Amino acid sequence: MSRPILITGAAGFIGSHVAEALIARGISVVGVDNFDAMYATHFKKQNLSDVEQSARHAPELFRFIDADITDANAVNELFTLLQPSGVIHLAARAGVRPSIEDPAGYMKANVLATANILHASGMHNAHGCSRVVCASSSSVYGNCPVAPFHEEMDVSTPISPYAASKRANELQAFTHHHLTGQPVAMLRFFTVYGPRQRPDLAINKFLSRVARGESIEMFGDGHTSRDYTFVNDIVRGVLSAYEAIPTHGYRVWNLGSDRPTTLNDLISAISTTVGKPAQIVHKPMQQGDVERTWADLSRSAKELQYRATTTLADGLAAQYEWMKRS
Ligand SMILES: NC(=O)c1ccc[n+]([C@@H]2O[C@H](COP(=O)([O-])OP(=O)(O)OC[C@H]3O[C@@H](n4cnc5c(N)ncnc54)[C@H](O)[C@@H]3O)[C@@H](O)[C@H]2O)c1
Repeated sequence: MSRPILITGAAGFIGSHVAEALIARGISVVGVDNFDAMYATHFKKQNLSDVEQSARHAPELFRFIDADITDANAVNELFTLLQPSGVIHLAARAGVRPSIEDPAGYMKANVLATANILHASGMHNAHGCSRVVCASSSSVYGNCPVAPFHEEMDVSTPISPYAASKRANELQAFTHHHLTGQPVAMLRFFTVYGPRQRPDLAINKFLSRVARGESIEMFGDGHTSRDYTFVNDIVRGVLSAYEAIPTHGYRVWNLGSDRPTTLNDLISAISTTVGKPAQIVHKPMQQGDVERTWADLSRSAKELQYRATTTLADGLAAQYEWMKRS
């Protein structure tokens, strides 16, 4: 059998979708995850069961291993056992606000774990581990005064430990590429939503609470904005980056939608999707939250032929349908 692609964080939101997309293309995948306690394990078990279901016609294409990638020995053993042809590294503690309460935990789960993955990938470079694609985040742009955000802009002022951990990963990935020559892509995802979205994220919480007639908390006056991006668009971008990175060496790409939406407009769109009014409880802006995100997609359009095709209305409808089924 051909060598698998290793996906870290495969039981998570984005990882499970990337795994399904590779399996649908007949590519062998090994998923790794440790069911980190950031959110309940049963969501992740369901994600994995969905991936297994999508591989039912070719079960040999998917294998799952429960492992903690902050453990360097465990990571080295995984690489020796699996001999992956490449790595899509999505595992992390995601989320801005909890990172303020536990910066050291975030540095371990995000920075140390990425060091382990890069080092093991580099050790296996000569044995066919051809590339690494890593999840970065739009949060690295901090409160950048100019928008949309282009990959060449200054990203030296992250405003949360989570953002700092993602920027640290971009720096260590550059160093890794410089030292080993192994191609590494860093993908700056802009607020991803869709079926299986993490339960801590606003769209998931808002859809379920508005549907139940419960109030939702709005932090700030609603003028903050996010470049919400549907997960299928992100998956296409990840796979294009996986294909393209060997010709680039080290490259950062934005994967967003280039359609920023204010919180006020998001809440209106959610009310429309659910068919019920939103009862809003106003709260002050939260520390660590940026004012806005907005992806400049010119580089990823040119080099990855990336384009986000899903409108917010269609994406919300898809997420709401999934929520009602699950
Ligand atoms: N969802 C978004 O809007 C968004 C935006 C920007 C960047 N990202 C990044 O994309 C990636 C995927 O995010 P997601 O939303 O799917 O999050 P997620 O929490 O659903 O998935 C991450 C997975 O990584 C696993 N994990 C964490 N620590 C681990 C460890 N030490 N060993 C093994 N597995 C571990 C978790 O159990 C989880 O299943 C993350 O790197 C995140 O920072 C996400």
